[in-house]
Amino acid sequence: MRYEVLTIFPDMVEQAFRTGVTGRASGDGIIELDTVNIREYSTNSYGSIDGYTYGGGAGMLMQCEPVYQAYEEALKRLEEKRTDKEDGSKDCHPVRVIYMTPVGEVFTQKKAKELSKESELIFLCGHYEGIDERVIDEIVTDRISIGDYVLTGGELSALVVMDAVARLIPGVLKNDESAETESFNTGGLLEYPQYTRPDEWHGRKVPEILLSGDHGKVDNYRMQEMRRVTKEIRPDLYRKYMEDRGIY
Ligand code: ADE
Repeated sequence: MRYEVLTIFPDMVEQAFRTGVTGRASGDGIIELDTVNIREYSTNSYGSIDGYTYGGGAGMLMQCEPVYQAYEEALKRLEEKRTDKEDGSKDCHPVRVIYMTPVGEVFTQKKAKELSKESELIFLCGHYEGIDERVIDEIVTDRISIGDYVLTGGELSALVVMDAVARLIPGVLKNDESAETESFNTGGLLEYPQYTRPDEWHGRKVPEILLSGDHGKVDNYRMQEMRRVTKEIRPDLYRKYMEDRGIY
């Protein structure tokens, strides 16, 4: 997977991405990250990339041309990195461009799975009050929101999506199992609570059944716990889980 991120804060994206599991995976060459600084494509001598909104309204908008040129640079880099086809020509396929915005479809595990099948993704991070709609219409294929709240920019949300997608790519997680057994891969239920040593801490004991060594009983208990936790914390998910099984 190759990620290209169009941003005015490349350091923020690079630093966060190079930390932890995604950092290790990029060191292992499983995922690659490259950033394009939109500010370098200013069309004026002041180096600004924003302008007032036609029709009035508070705040500034990112202009089309700097965003478009940053996009072209990202495409060029991706194409250069593609290996040549047998006849010596370059593979030339469309690349999905994801605009991170509160005015987008809400990000889900299903979307993460879908995106993890791509070999390249471009993320566009907005700032100020947003981006001129014309460049969005020209280059963007997906508009994604990470939730019903407004952040100061798209960098954190792009990192959220990149992280969720990365961990679904084979080899990124060391234990290949763990991507399958966690929340949202368990038929729509949340994960059960887990415990490690010691078996008593601050007077709180690990549930007896988990110490029993009876795998059948442990599995049943965990399933029961998944239902309980989901019903308590996310009744919406629990309702859907029951409906999917024909229980109303
Ligand atoms: N940029 C600002 N707020 C956002 C959100 N909720 N999701 C994605 N990108 C954003």
